[in-house]
Amino acid sequence: MCSSRVEPTFVLRAFNNGIDGVLIIGCHMGDCHYMKGFEYTQVRMDHLKNLIKYIGIEADRFQLHSISASEGKQFSELINDFTKTIIEFGELKIPKKPGIFELEYNCKMK
Ligand code: FES
Repeated sequence: MCSSRVEPTFVLRAFNNGIDGVLIIGCHMGDCHYMKGFEYTQVRMDHLKNLIKYIGIEADRFQLHSISASEGKQFSELINDFTKTIIEFGELKIPKKPGIFELEYNCKMK
């Protein structure tokens, strides 16, 4: 319902399961039905983007944007641009850094 529902672990799991790119789209700043949902999402996803870079995944494989329901043309352009970016990157190959994804699962277990 709201972009703030997307937990960073969802994105990590998607990459860990071989998804080539993740695009999160929320409302424009100030338009979130839950008031500050998009602001929270932006802060959390900024941190996540740093982690993704640290892992060795191209940062643009993960993007966060805001678009309203009335912006069909912008939505279409965003999807086309994102798809083009992911196609140019090719298949995701996560560099071997043991422990990164295990850490996430271990944290959830406790
Ligand atoms: S309802 Fe929260 S970002 Fe759209």
